[in-house]
Amino acid sequence: MTNSEYCTKVAEASEFIRSQIPDIPKICLVLGSGLGPLTDRVETIVEIPYEKIPHFPATTVAGHDGKLLLAVLSGRMCFIMKGRFHYYEGYSTQEATFYVRVMAKLGVEILVMTNAAGGINTDMTPSDLMVITDHIGLFCDSPLRGGNLDEFGPRFPDQTRVYDEGLKDSLLAAAEELNIPLHQGVYAYTRGPQYETPAEISALRILGADAVGMSTVAEAIAASHCGMKILAVSCITNYAAGITGQPLSHAEVMENANKSSNNSIALMERFFSKL
Ligand code: HPA
Repeated sequence: MTNSEYCTKVAEASEFIRSQIPDIPKICLVLGSGLGPLTDRVETIVEIPYEKIPHFPATTVAGHDGKLLLAVLSGRMCFIMKGRFHYYEGYSTQEATFYVRVMAKLGVEILVMTNAAGGINTDMTPSDLMVITDHIGLFCDSPLRGGNLDEFGPRFPDQTRVYDEGLKDSLLAAAEELNIPLHQGVYAYTRGPQYETPAEISALRILGADAVGMSTVAEAIAASHCGMKILAVSCITNYAAGITGQPLSHAEVMENANKSSNNSIALMERFFSKL
């Protein structure tokens, strides 16, 4: 696909969304594992299944249904992405981040992402939450590869501060008010879908990672290229491979994501009330 074809698709998707909603919010919240039930606690204004949005990919992971909501969360109008697109599903990082460009085109300025991650730093226990301070995306195919999309950002974007300090501080304040422990750390990306080997986890620990997961980084790169402010929170769903010697399982990941669900939802509600 040429740049101009991609940009046309972004424009068509954003025009379609614009035609369906009364107002454009400034913030988009992407729900990772465990945060699905948050949608029961918002006032939904409009609900658009992804398959109705021109050029939107379909989600393929069980437990991630695909819809875009325009909703009110703690008095704040926002987009909520229920379900996202992962490289391991077979999408390129350009496809997986298509929605980020659509959000940017619509005028969204803040991207808040949540995800599930394995804990590498053993100060964290499964079901704890960690706000991402920086990432290691060395294994992530760049969503910016190919001709630069000049309408969104520069060819060689700076990555010194991908995650916004102000948003992070506001989340930390929300956590403190609610007495919810919130760690801070570096998130390492792996392509998946297989979990890591213990040797890979030892390597990532040496590189400075506190947690590891299969999403978020490509989206953060695309969003930072567009000049968006980014906040990302991981739910630590398991000890990373090799730490306990037990095999990892998707069931364990989902179980701990669900365990932390009340905390993640309360935290997001309080954070939104501060925006
Ligand atoms: N590794 C990668 N991705 C993950 C993990 C993990 O241990 N847990 C949840 N998502």
